[in-house]
Formats: sequence, C-alpha cells, structure tokens
Amino acid sequence: MGINTFKALRVNEDKSGKFTRNIIERKFVDLPDNDVLIKVHYTALNYKDALSAVGNKGVTRNYPHTPGIDAAGTVVESKTPQFKVGDKVIVTSYDLGMNTDGAFAEYIRVPQAWVVPLPNGLNLKECMIIGTAGLTAGIGLYKLEMMGQNPEQGPIIVSGASGGVGSMAVGILAKAGYQVIASTGKENVEKFLKNIGASEVVDREFVNDDSSRPLMKPKWAGGIDTVGGNTLSTLLKGCQPGGSVASCGLVGSPNLSTTVFPFIINGINLLGLDSANFPMKERQQVWNRLAGVWKLSDLDSVTTMSKLEELDPYIDQILRGKLKGRVVVEMGA
Ligand SMILES: NC(=O)c1ccc[n+]([C@@H]2O[C@H](COP(=O)([O-])OP(=O)(O)OC[C@H]3O[C@@H](n4cnc5c(N)ncnc54)[C@H](OP(=O)(O)O)[C@@H]3O)[C@@H](O)[C@H]2O)c1
Repeated sequence: MGINTFKALRVNEDKSGKFTRNIIERKFVDLPDNDVLIKVHYTALNYKDALSAVGNKGVTRNYPHTPGIDAAGTVVESKTPQFKVGDKVIVTSYDLGMNTDGAFAEYIRVPQAWVVPLPNGLNLKECMIIGTAGLTAGIGLYKLEMMGQNPEQGPIIVSGASGGVGSMAVGILAKAGYQVIASTGKENVEKFLKNIGASEVVDREFVNDDSSRPLMKPKWAGGIDTVGGNTLSTLLKGCQPGGSVASCGLVGSPNLSTTVFPFIINGINLLGLDSANFPMKERQQVWNRLAGVWKLSDLDSVTTMSKLEELDPYIDQILRGKLKGRVVVEMGA
C-alpha cells in the first residue's frame, strides 16, 4: 500500500452486465466525504455481502463497488467531537457496503451516526464474529422479550440454525436461558449446534409443513426465522398461543403465504427485524447485552478466519446456503 492508497476488494460490472472481483489499490480521496475515517482491523462475511459481491442490484445499485457491511477498527481521522483519533469502534449495517463503500477494504469513511464505540466486554475481533448476524439475532431476542417471551413459556425454534444469524441466535438464546430447537438442512452439524447451546436439532423438513392446515399442534413457544417462505409460515402455524416469531431473512424465499388464523386464533405476533435501521439507542442496548449476559462463551468455535484474498470460496458457499457459522476477515492492525 502506498501512502495515499489502501487495499480494497472491488466489484466491477462490464458492459455486458458481467461482474468480476479484484483486490485493488484505492485512493483515500475516492472514499465518500464523511465524518469519520476508520482503519478496518476486522470485517466479516454476511449473506448480503455475498449478494453485493455478485452484482445483486437489490442490495447495491451501482458498480464499481466495495461490499462489506461490518467493520471493526480504529478512528484515524474525525471531523466530529464524538470520536477522536485512536478510538476503537464498530460499524454494522446502515448503508455501509450497500451503496456506500464497505469494509472489504483497509479503510472506510462513514457518517458519525453509524459509529458505535467498542462495547465493554468485547474486542474488535469478537465484535466481527458477532457482526450484523449477531446484532440481528440480538434484536430478534430483544423484540421477542419486548412481547413478553420468557424461558418458562417453552422452547424457541431457530431456522437456518447453522448459518451466521442462525448460529448466533442459537447461542444467545441459550445464554439467555431458553431451550433452543435448531432447524438445519445440513448433515453433520448436530455437534456444532449442541455445543453452542441447542437442546434439540431437527431437520429443515420439520419446519416445512405442506399440509393445508391453517394451524398445527403447538411445538414451540416462539421463533427466529432466517429462511422466509413456507418455513416462516410453518413457524407461525406451529407456535404456541401468545408467542412471537421474528422474521429476518429470505434465504429460502421472500414470499409469505399464511392465513390470518395464527394471528386471530392464537394471538401470534409476527415481528420484523431490520438491523440496518435499528435505532442507535436500542442498538447500543443490544450490543451491551451481546457483550455481557448474551456473550457466547466460545465465540471462536463459530468462526472461520479468512484473508481478503481468500474470500471467493466463502462468498460462493454462503450463496449456496453451505456456510457454517461466521467468516471473519482479518485486515491487519
Ligand atoms: N433483516 C435483517 O436485518 C438481516 C440481517 C442479517 C441477515 N439477514 C438475512 O438473514 C438471512 C441469513 O443471513 P446469514 O448471513 O445468516 O446467511 P447464512 O450464513 O447463509 O445462513 C443462512 C442459513 O439458512 C439455511 N438455508 C440456506 N438456504 C436455504 C434454503 N433454500 N431453504 C432453507 N434453509 C436454507 C442454511 O442453514 P441450515 O443449513 O442450518 O439450514 C444457511 O446456512 C439472509 O436472508 C439475510 O439477508 C437479515
């Protein structure tokens, strides 16, 4: 890296609409003119990053672009009194890596409103193991509990349990005292899921009810769904009266076909999770829990470390639903 340049992954679109990825040297002057310049020490891979990396215009409208919605690092320049040079900070979601140059780079420049001081109890690497995936799972539990959910009511089901959001959800629910039913389509992940706190591991088909019944015998007290489609519909049908199901993902399908019966007969609450725009005050409360009472005892066990140059196969795996846990990218101090 030259003194005026830094390393970044860049996704390009050619005239025929084909997308390619390269690691290039970028100039600091080409970063957006925002409040806080951050040296990225760690970033992580999320499903949304993979979509951006392959040219999904629903995530990123214009290319060339640098994906990366999660960053943990040190402030190197600040135009705002809230942050000073040397502060350790994290940025997750908002527009980072979507239509703002993201964290698959040695530096990002972002608005002050997106920056969260490093929570007490976590280091920069741990923050990226948790990342947007863990924040989303944390928002899920926060919202379930706002609706009155508690461990005495019974187990919480997590779909897509071995993925990033799913594995973090299993871990934090267990830390918070819940029994967790982990639903997965992968073979050989039972030990992994039980190690992070699942009390029961079920096959994905268990949450794919294809009967025309509007309701099922209750099998769980609440749920966190990363899959969408018929999985979400099944989670609603099989939820115990008064329970809540939080929806965050669409890896199976963005569609939802349901009747109103789970809502009007069983009083089920369907809760939406949007980590990108989750308000800062509550975001900090969730981070404090992720750093404290909800902190997984062995965060490394859900983590695969990568270098920026090694990300391609992981991007491919996450798009095929094959990735287990979290991939964290070490960018260097
Ligand atoms: N709303 C928000 O704020 C927010 C924030 C973060 C992520 N998300 C969304 O949440 C979802 C998960 O993200 P992630 O980063 O955790 O991705 P991920 O690591 O790929 O996890 C998704 C998991 O879902 C399961 N899965 C994949 N394809 C499936 C299919 N066709 N049918 C059923 N299950 C399938 C797999 O787990 P198993 O093999 O264990 O079943 C996979 O590992 C994505 O849709 C992402 O966009 C939303």
